[in-house]
Amino acid sequence: MNIRSFYGCIAILALAALSACSRTTTVASTAIPHLQKQGTATQLIVDGKPFLMLAAELRNSSGSSLEYLKPIWPKLVAMHVNTVLTAVYWELLEPKEGQFDFTLVDGAIQAARDNNLRLIFLWFGSWKNGVSSYPPAWVKSDQNRFPRVQDKDGRGLETLSTLSTANRDADSRAFAALMRHIKEVDTRHTVVMMQVENEVGVLGDSRDRCDAANKAFEGPVPKELLDYIASHKDTLHPDLSQAWVAAGSKTSGTWEEVFGKAAYTDELFMAWNYAGYVGRVAAAGKAEYPLPMYVNTWCSMPAPDRGPGTYPSGGPEPQVGNIWKVGAPAIDIRGPDLYSPNQPDWIKWYRANDTDNPLFIPETDSTRGAYHLFYALGQHDAMGYAPFAIDELLYSTASGTKMEPADLPLARSYATAMQLAPLILEYQGKGKMAGVVVSADDPPQKIPLGDYVLEVSYARSRRPPAPPPATPAASAPAVPVPPPTPVPAPPGPVPAGAIFVSVGPDEYIVAGSGPVTVTFSPNTPGAPIAGVLSIEEGTFVDGRWAPGRRLNGDETSQGKFVRIGGGGIPNGSIQRVKLYRYH
Ligand code: DGJ
Repeated sequence: MNIRSFYGCIAILALAALSACSRTTTVASTAIPHLQKQGTATQLIVDGKPFLMLAAELRNSSGSSLEYLKPIWPKLVAMHVNTVLTAVYWELLEPKEGQFDFTLVDGAIQAARDNNLRLIFLWFGSWKNGVSSYPPAWVKSDQNRFPRVQDKDGRGLETLSTLSTANRDADSRAFAALMRHIKEVDTRHTVVMMQVENEVGVLGDSRDRCDAANKAFEGPVPKELLDYIASHKDTLHPDLSQAWVAAGSKTSGTWEEVFGKAAYTDELFMAWNYAGYVGRVAAAGKAEYPLPMYVNTWCSMPAPDRGPGTYPSGGPEPQVGNIWKVGAPAIDIRGPDLYSPNQPDWIKWYRANDTDNPLFIPETDSTRGAYHLFYALGQHDAMGYAPFAIDELLYSTASGTKMEPADLPLARSYATAMQLAPLILEYQGKGKMAGVVVSADDPPQKIPLGDYVLEVSYARSRRPPAPPPATPAASAPAVPVPPPTPVPAPPGPVPAGAIFVSVGPDEYIVAGSGPVTVTFSPNTPGAPIAGVLSIEEGTFVDGRWAPGRRLNGDETSQGKFVRIGGGGIPNGSIQRVKLYRYH
């Protein structure tokens, strides 16, 4: 792309820009926020235009007080957050059966609107982190009407059973009332998506063992599920495929006849029942107002988890993703809550093991988000990213020193991502973006993108580079791949993250949270050496490129590489790099 067409492209993008990353529109389009494919990506469309959620989730109890939230909204704006995730609590929404109090919902919508923010409501209904702490007192205290999960010792858990239509219908009625109300009051589409329940699944046992659950477990596997399995043999998760094939690829039978006697069978059974319940709650809500809806996942780990029940059994984990897909068609996204420092491994694993599932990260670590963000956006077309407990970040820091919201590392990264949003949205799903996270001890990473291979190195001292990683084995048939092992945060310097967009044959937009250096080598026939023709630092103002400094000399090590962070280039700097080739 030449300079003129680059500017042309940016000018077109500018038209989309105002609302692409913006937090508001004055005249709302009548279309309800919805999901739409672009190439391999899925985008959230708000008021007729793609919207990138630079989001943040409040602590669990924050949404219960409008007063508490009052000073927080403007701070979130200062952090360049454009979407806030906050809970709606069943116990406060329906304190008496059939009587709804929408004060908190209305207050949150009004405050978000006043601050030009969008909202995602988290429905803390039947379950939150596996247990039922949020149902109202009239549900909690009537165990006969609203049955609980029983464990193998016959003890009742504080967890509503999925095997109860009374539970499901009570939750569905409340959620439907919520969606009906949002439809009535939110004509400006401040609310863009809904999370249904929170990290569901049985904790403390691999499955529910109440009478109704035992009866269903000893009864036939529903035909609908078996038909799905038989007709999707090639796309089943390897765990599911192996269990089914090992038990004889049956098209009828009880759960243990069809999938074998194993804790995994209990997990499949619970997944089917949670999906059925949560899917029905979501469908009841969508019948009133069909916003996109997702569930969030407490991701199981090889350690310390020791099988289903030590993590929520039946929750939307990748190994039961197929069950959720067929059992809960009203759920559009299964989003992983990702807290481990090696987030790129988790994202890769999650995407490979729950295919055909758009990437939205509903919870993550707020500090590491400053660099992980660029990987999720650049490498995986994430439609949104939401660090958790953002209000805590605003009032406490590890050092005890209070920082201005805009100075927080996450805020700086969000400021950059906010500017890039129109470009990111334009290029999502087209194979022209990449993202990287690199730590001080990592070897350089080679990223083929466009007509060049980018070599990205952590820009650090004179420490000898770590040995290159072992060559990956040739691709093998699908076998279960366990989730990555969570690793502690690397000691020493904070890792770096960067995003790269190939905007033309010899041209890249580069940004991130450094310090990294980037070199380029040609990837296509022609002259074999790449040189830097020009590097411009600049900003996107409503999607339009506004050049600032021309970078050369020490700031580029005499044209040897592009720096992101360090060497006179601040974190958050956006650079437009033009290359040429020579012999
Ligand atoms: C995951 C849950 O979904 C959140 O609501 C919160 O409880 C965090 N865990 C705490 O780390």
